[in-house]
Amino acid sequence: MKQFKIVLIAVFAPLFASEAQTKGINDLDPVVEHKIDSILELMTVKEKVGQMVQYNGSFDVTGAPSDIDSKTKLQKLKNGEVGSMLNVLTAEATREAQQVVMENSRLKIPLLFGYDVIHGYKTMFPVPLGESASWDLDAMELSASIAAKETAAAGVHWTFAPMIDVSRDARWGRIMEGAGEDPYLNAVIGVARIKGFQGSDLADVATIAACAKHFAGYGFAEAGRDYNTVNVGTSELQNAILMPFKAAAEAGVATFMNSFNEIDGVPSTASTYLQRDILKGVWDYKGFMVSDWGSIAELIPHGYAEDKMQAGELAVVAGSDMDMEGRVYEEALEPLVNENTIDEALLDDAVRRILRVKFHLGLFEDPYKYSDAQREQEVLLAEAHLEAARDIARKSIVLLKNENSVLPLSKALESITVIGPLADDKDSPLGNWRAQADKNSAVSVLEGIQNAVGKEVQINYAKGADLGMGERSFLMPLEINDTDTSGFAKAIEAAKKSEVVVMVLGEDAFQTGEGRSQTGIQLRGVQQELLDEVVKVNPNVVLVLMNGRPLDISKPNEEVSAIVETWFLGSQAGNAIADVLFGAYNPSGKLPISFPRNVGQEPLYYNQKNTGRPASDMVTYSGYQDSSREALFPFGFGLSYTTFEYGAISLSASEFSGEEKLEVTIELTNTGAVAGKETVQLYLRDLVASRTRPVKELRDFKQVSLKPGETKKVTFEISAKTLEFYTANNTWEAESGSFKVMLGSNSRDLKEASFQYKK
Ligand code: BGC
Repeated sequence: MKQFKIVLIAVFAPLFASEAQTKGINDLDPVVEHKIDSILELMTVKEKVGQMVQYNGSFDVTGAPSDIDSKTKLQKLKNGEVGSMLNVLTAEATREAQQVVMENSRLKIPLLFGYDVIHGYKTMFPVPLGESASWDLDAMELSASIAAKETAAAGVHWTFAPMIDVSRDARWGRIMEGAGEDPYLNAVIGVARIKGFQGSDLADVATIAACAKHFAGYGFAEAGRDYNTVNVGTSELQNAILMPFKAAAEAGVATFMNSFNEIDGVPSTASTYLQRDILKGVWDYKGFMVSDWGSIAELIPHGYAEDKMQAGELAVVAGSDMDMEGRVYEEALEPLVNENTIDEALLDDAVRRILRVKFHLGLFEDPYKYSDAQREQEVLLAEAHLEAARDIARKSIVLLKNENSVLPLSKALESITVIGPLADDKDSPLGNWRAQADKNSAVSVLEGIQNAVGKEVQINYAKGADLGMGERSFLMPLEINDTDTSGFAKAIEAAKKSEVVVMVLGEDAFQTGEGRSQTGIQLRGVQQELLDEVVKVNPNVVLVLMNGRPLDISKPNEEVSAIVETWFLGSQAGNAIADVLFGAYNPSGKLPISFPRNVGQEPLYYNQKNTGRPASDMVTYSGYQDSSREALFPFGFGLSYTTFEYGAISLSASEFSGEEKLEVTIELTNTGAVAGKETVQLYLRDLVASRTRPVKELRDFKQVSLKPGETKKVTFEISAKTLEFYTANNTWEAESGSFKVMLGSNSRDLKEASFQYKK
């Protein structure tokens, strides 16, 4: 079999030891393992295969619609030929489906229900990229735990989240679903979300199993085109792509999902190297691997398998344990075992992992425990959930520009004009992957502003133009208004009436998400034209951006006084945005992803390599002749209504060795007039290494709240663990040598110091 083979050294040292100690799937309980043995002994090959089959339910479709009729599906449930279902929702529906299995199948192994709960179930939190801009791990853990509570109350046991694909290309539509371009940030945020979903006890009916996806490389799709080929070498694969997954495995995430893409000629779904050698081998992971929707069957169009029989063989040998809607395992595995093409032990291993998760969830004790209609009623959209959604939403807002302190807006203004296709949009703030959010249920920006000012300030509203048009849904292409400017005149008149104009522009919710790749990342439709016309009559424009990917805002940046990045903030979007616009909340968000000057810079990320030609006055260096190579707004960037001053870095020593620790301290002062919160970021550079290292890499951060005039010392600890990377020895270790440590408020504006490390 063609496989990407590399010598692996079995070293397994937790990278995120302090965060990663939730007891879970990797701690084998001898009693549970013994019970699994007994069940396996009773199972026929067909029943084993059944556990490895996942069917879509009759609700949402998040992949190609299935061709199987519900009568056949029902019969398969009765026969014990299906182990899991996705998209079956509500306490009632899950109870019904569970009943079919419990009352008819021979072994009565409970069904496992999965669903894409990406940023909330009914109460919507910011899309993951937006929420990541809060850099607030506790808040993200809380939002995941609320999502889990609502999901579990609807009878669902398992979310296909978090997505921890490092993603660096703004063209890729699924960039909204992760934590951006940095491996470390993806790792710590992924772990926080896993802890939030899973809590400390998976059997608790307020928690659900999480899923680290997509394993691996999905975010590196060439040219930002979804599902496209990925070509990376070992260093990038390990240090950038796999690092967050390693952290997720260590944190005890209950499941993994593989990915649609190939890497180096091998589709991930059939990659023994990724799934067996690394995940289940070197990392010693004990949960199970679900395929992505149909990805086992897709081995055929990939040109890697001739037919379903070969696809099934390749996937099961490689370590894909459950077939999501691929209809391959149900056809191929039994004959493959009977013909002795594959060993039945492969099925035993997969089924053992799946049953382990079902045991951890407590389903063998009570298969109906999650399906409780009364709890469902009490929990969904609870007041406390909406309050938490508003809080995390405002923490996720990033202030990108604030010339002449236009913001915060005063409530003493006579009037404010609000313009833009997204200004009174109650749907787009819900983002894509919105689970069970009710259509048009978000607080719009216009409503948020009205709530904030009451009758004190006159609000003049004009939409100006449409953006997305027609019916919008998960699988349908979105139509954009590229021509109709008939609303411009009204908007221009409204703009003349007030001192300040708040313009709400950006993307429709259905411009990002699965399959929503774009070649352009500017304001689409007639939005730029509308902005051009408005600034002609009123230069005092505050641009509120709503979007799921970094946009090219080079032109708007030249035209407006203030820019507020609000992503898709969820149910409470408008209220959270108004909190920031009027200063009830001092913005503290920082970009988890670089904003480029133009699409030609993509993929753009701060943690690049130096190259052999980093700078020169000549043309012969690694840059562009028509653009700066730097971001317009760099990773980690975000302003506040106050200002912070960083002192010099002090080190506890200029060198350290072995297991010693180095302390790095900086003084931070709030030099402005209001209280504020700063995220102090620590970056490292390993100057010479056995594999070239990035010019800087985020390795830690701390959030510090300061009153006006207040100074605090902020201290970080660096150990050998902080310096680790996947070296030329093919293992994670720190190498001796010279390092730079950099501290500051974003990846560009940093103070630095040097130290030496000796093994
Ligand atoms: C996506 C997954 C998702 C699955 C189930 C696929 O198309 O890539 O991320 O979990 O569908 O909805």
